[in-house]
Amino acid sequence: MTRILGIETSCDETSAAVLEGAGDDVRVRSLVILSQDVHRVFGGVVPEIASRAHLTAIVPVVDQALADSGSSDVDAVAVTSAPGLVGALLVGVAFGKAFAFARRVPMIGVHHMEGHLFATVLEDAAAVPPFTALLVSGGHTLLIDVEAWGRYRLLGRTRDDAAGEAFDKVAKLLGLPYPGGPHVERIAALAATPRAHDGQRALRFARPMLRRDQRPGDAEYYDVSFSGLKTAVLNAVKSSPSDADRAPIARAFQDAVVDTLVEKTARATHAYGRRRVVLGGGVACNGALVAAMRERFARDGVDVFAPTPRLATDNAAMIARAGLFHLERGERSGLDLNAFAAMPIPGLVAA
Ligand code: KG4
Ligand code: ZN
Repeated sequence: MTRILGIETSCDETSAAVLEGAGDDVRVRSLVILSQDVHRVFGGVVPEIASRAHLTAIVPVVDQALADSGSSDVDAVAVTSAPGLVGALLVGVAFGKAFAFARRVPMIGVHHMEGHLFATVLEDAAAVPPFTALLVSGGHTLLIDVEAWGRYRLLGRTRDDAAGEAFDKVAKLLGLPYPGGPHVERIAALAATPRAHDGQRALRFARPMLRRDQRPGDAEYYDVSFSGLKTAVLNAVKSSPSDADRAPIARAFQDAVVDTLVEKTARATHAYGRRRVVLGGGVACNGALVAAMRERFARDGVDVFAPTPRLATDNAAMIARAGLFHLERGERSGLDLNAFAAMPIPGLVAA
C-alpha cells in the first residue's frame, strides 16, 4: 500500500491531496482545493496573478492536506507537470521536487488530462477501463477511447474553443459572471423550452460539426467545433437585447452543445463496443449534459459515470491517482522534471 501526496497548480486552483492504496483499491484520505477567486475581477485567469497566488498558497495547502489525512508521512509525490499555465505549473513542480528531495521519496510528473481520466474512479469503483472518455474542461475537449489505464486512443477534439471556454464566452455575451458555465446552466433552466423572445418560433442553433451522413473515416466524425455556435449566440444577443431573452438563448446554446457532445460520444462508444462512458472536466458538472448522456445510453445498457463537481473540476486527488498508476508501473521523474504548457497525454495514440 502506498500513501501518495498529489499536487495540482496548472490553472487557478491550488490543490493538494493524500491518497492511500494499491491497484484499483485507492482511498482519498484528504483533499484541499483553494480556488483563486481574484480572477473573477478580470473576467478570466490572469497567468501572472495565478502563479503568485499559487506561491502564497502552496505550503499551507499541502500542510492542510497532510494534517487532514491524519499523518504527515507519505511514500511518494505526484505533481501536475503539463499542460497548463507554465508559471502556475512551475510552482507545483518546484514544490514537488523540493518535497521529494527533502523527504527522499520518489516523484512522478502527471499529465493534467490523464488526471481527469482518473477522477471518476475515486468515487465509483466501476468507472474503470475499457470506457469511452469525454473530457470537457475550460482548456480541452477530448474524446478518448480508454482501452486500459495508460492505453488511450484520441478519437476527437475541438477544432477551436474548448467546451468550457464556449460556456465562458457565451456567459460573457449574456452578461453573466466568470466562470460562466454554472451561470449559463442556471439561466438555461429558466427557459422551459427553447423559445424565441416573440414566443412564436423555437430558438434553435445549428449543431456544430454534426451531420448524419458523416462516417467513421471522416475527419469531422468525432471532432467538435464551438466557434460558429458562439457567433450564432452573438447574433441572437444583438437581435434581442432585452434581459428576458437571455434564458432562451442560453438554453438553445446549451442544447446545441449537449446534443453534439452526446452524439459524438455515442459514435465513439458504439464504434469501439464500450459498455461504459466516463465524463470529466468542469463541464461534466453540467446537469443537462449528464442527464442527456444517461438518457441516450440507457437503452443500450451503457453506464454513464460523471464525477461530482469537486472531482470534475481541477483537483489534486485525480493527479495523485494517476501518479500512483505510473509509480506502480515503476516510472519515476527525476529532479530535472520541467513544466510544459502543452504536451500529449502519455500513452495516447491517434485514431
Ligand atoms: O476542468 P476545469 O475545472 O478547469 C480546466 O481544466 O479548464 O473546467 C472549468 C470549466 C469552465 O470553463 C467552467 O465554465 C466550466 O468548466 N463549467 C461548466 C459548469 N461548471 C463548470 N460548464 C457548463 N456547465 C456547468 N455547470
Ligand atoms: Zn482541468
